[in-house]
Amino acid sequence: MSKQYFSKIGFILAAAGSAVGLGNIWRFPYIAGEYGGGAFVLVYIAALLLVGIPVLMAEILLGKMGKDEPVSSYENLAPDGKKWWRFAGFSFITGFLILTFYSVVLGWVFAYVFITLTGLPSSAEAAKDLFMTLLQQDLATQLFFHLISTALVGFIVLRGIKQGIEKVNNILMPLLIFMLIFMLVYAFTLDSFGKAISFMFAPDFSKLSSEAVLVAVGQAFFSLSVGMVVMLTYASFANQKTKVFNSAIIITIFDALIAIVAGVAMFAFLFEQNMPSSQGAGLAFISMPAVFFEFGSVGVVLSLLFFISLAFAGLTSAISILEPTVSHLIKQRKYSRKKATFVPLIAVYLLGVVALVSNVSGFEFLTFGSKNLFDWFDFVTAAIMLPIGGLFVAIFMGFVVDKNRIVTALKTEGLSSKTIGFWFFLLRYVAPIAIIGVIGAKMMGL
Ligand code: PHE
Repeated sequence: MSKQYFSKIGFILAAAGSAVGLGNIWRFPYIAGEYGGGAFVLVYIAALLLVGIPVLMAEILLGKMGKDEPVSSYENLAPDGKKWWRFAGFSFITGFLILTFYSVVLGWVFAYVFITLTGLPSSAEAAKDLFMTLLQQDLATQLFFHLISTALVGFIVLRGIKQGIEKVNNILMPLLIFMLIFMLVYAFTLDSFGKAISFMFAPDFSKLSSEAVLVAVGQAFFSLSVGMVVMLTYASFANQKTKVFNSAIIITIFDALIAIVAGVAMFAFLFEQNMPSSQGAGLAFISMPAVFFEFGSVGVVLSLLFFISLAFAGLTSAISILEPTVSHLIKQRKYSRKKATFVPLIAVYLLGVVALVSNVSGFEFLTFGSKNLFDWFDFVTAAIMLPIGGLFVAIFMGFVVDKNRIVTALKTEGLSSKTIGFWFFLLRYVAPIAIIGVIGAKMMGL
């Protein structure tokens, strides 16, 4: 079968679909809440501009120039004598591991679409009980919804780049944007809208800690989907008309806007019911259902929109996380697309089961040190392996690949020498220092 390519808009939507995920709607608002709102948002935007965009550009360019699955792309671009850089392509293993618990969380999202329909919890305590029961006792429901989420991912990826991934993103991304706009407009009609806006945009630098800066850089990476060769792989299917710089900017704007819109809407809902802004990871699964209950029948509609948006965002990211592994197995192991999809997915399902079981009471033996297996998976992959993957991209494109080739490629896209020079500076020095700082700090905090 000849290689399939995304259309120009197909690539943008698929890459934006990858970037916009649980990280934007579930994680960003609660960490913004925790680290003080406006000041954190500013630091986050700086992290996107100084570290996120340069590395995202590098990763897209790596895929577009390498034109192949991750390991071969690294190999194609590495100069003779440095072909061992191909091992950096194995960063797709990070994605494979992230998918194990990402699909568990996606399963919870699906479960909450049903919970909305069968009855929202009537108080904050009831909401907490409901979530904790699901997490710690209801193994069967979790296994079921985890199966649904992995099966959906498999079904889409199996159909390939055009018929599967591009098509699904073309449908789900516009719907997602439409639903978020609807929630924002409703939030606008509430008295608390102004309060939510000033919470997100009025910076109070006294609340800003060095930890917040590290969290912002880590979040910028996770949210832009860089560091685990997902963007590389998608870019290897981009047609030659796709422009690296423009795409990176559009993807980042999409990503940041959606995180901010979700945050503003959620905080407006919370403040309207006099709920606090910082409630940790339970924000989406505990506070939001309780708040939606307070809104009565409108709340049911809002809750459905919220959890379906979350499901769409998560699903379009999950498929992107699997594709690098699939592309690799097809090319290097000569698997059929079917086998290359199902073999890793079965492993993802089983590992995900181990992770989710470690939250269930009676399985405390799956806790090692301060974290259970679920949290270990999250920590090792998102906090350590992902930034390392990003560091590989920055160093490889910044120092290893022949600079003239890169400059020529970017010049044909119409970039000026000045812009290219500035990008090289960020990629070579600013990004690696920021990344090493993040990894170091995370390790120390162990
Ligand atoms: N960017 C996605 C999110 O914000 C997660 C993701 C990370 C997807 C890395 C692909 C690669 O949820």
